Amino acid sequence: MAYDALSPRDLPLSDAALAQLFTEARTRNAWSDRPVAPELLKKLYDLTKFGPTAVNAGPARFVFVTSPEAKARLIPLMSEGNRAKTQQAPVNLILAQDLDFHDHLPTLFPHAPGARDWFADEAGRRETAFRNASLQGGYLTIAARALGLDVGPMSGFDAAGVKAEFFPDSHVEPNYILNLGYGTDENLFPRSPRLTFDQAAQILSTLPHVKKRGGLRRPPLLLLSAPDPQWTVGTLVTAGFSTGISISVPSDTGVTGTETEGPALGKLFSSRFGATPFSSRSLISSPDRVSYSSRAWDSFS
Ligand SMILES: Cc1cc2nc3c(=O)[nH]c(=O)nc-3n(C[C@H](O)[C@H](O)[C@H](O)COP(=O)(O)O)c2cc1C
Repeated sequence: MAYDALSPRDLPLSDAALAQLFTEARTRNAWSDRPVAPELLKKLYDLTKFGPTAVNAGPARFVFVTSPEAKARLIPLMSEGNRAKTQQAPVNLILAQDLDFHDHLPTLFPHAPGARDWFADEAGRRETAFRNASLQGGYLTIAARALGLDVGPMSGFDAAGVKAEFFPDSHVEPNYILNLGYGTDENLFPRSPRLTFDQAAQILSTLPHVKKRGGLRRPPLLLLSAPDPQWTVGTLVTAGFSTGISISVPSDTGVTGTETEGPALGKLFSSRFGATPFSSRSLISSPDRVSYSSRAWDSFS
């Protein structure tokens, strides 16, 4: 299906929301004494549970440790460097996975009545439980930040000890521990760098138009930085692939608005971006701006 208009669901969150969830959010090592109400922990679960998991199994199990008695059972099982902050945080979450998650599939995955039998093999169950419970820990992290909470995840603990202390005689196994609450800047080391997109990712485009002489050419997605703040540049997406580019420039750039002048704007665009559009889709003009979209690209420099 062609992708022509944004539905409300496609609109990105505000920069402030993205900052709270990602760019400004930090792993906390110290905690204020502001308590976290049990209702907020329930709300946290009620957001986390909607994150996708294989066969909708939701294998994660959540033990929220808040009382001094329960903390006293957990703290000695944390590695030395994790003890003080675990003691200080108002909530310690033991994130675990249930290896018997498949018993719930008749309810959780009702449209596939045989789904429980797909997990007869324990090694397969273990892998599915670990992968999906770990994902749920990630969903919980983002949900916590969305609710204004901070998190401090830790894998430095005695897993066999936590299993014996909190999950004896069951098929539940600990995955990792998260401190939860309202963090402070104490013991916060400077933000560490992340790998760049080029270091960590690649786009393998299978679109015919980017398979030119000499192998794969760069897909349009890589052209998305406008050279001039007055230009706006967007991408056209079809079936999940970037298939073209939309641009909008001020009218006084010298381009006037008729359909036939699409290529003129394309030429102007190519002189700025080093790329040549070969199929113009639409050219719309207003008194102030001319907008143009091209379905695909002939060549890239
Ligand atoms: C699964 C997991 C295990 C971690 N284990 C520990 C730990 O045992 N002790 C610790 O101090 N930090 C631990 N961390 C924290 C990471 O070092 C931290 O999230 C990372 O450096 C990013 O920090 P930032 O969110 O402030 O940018 C862990 C994080 C994750 C997600």
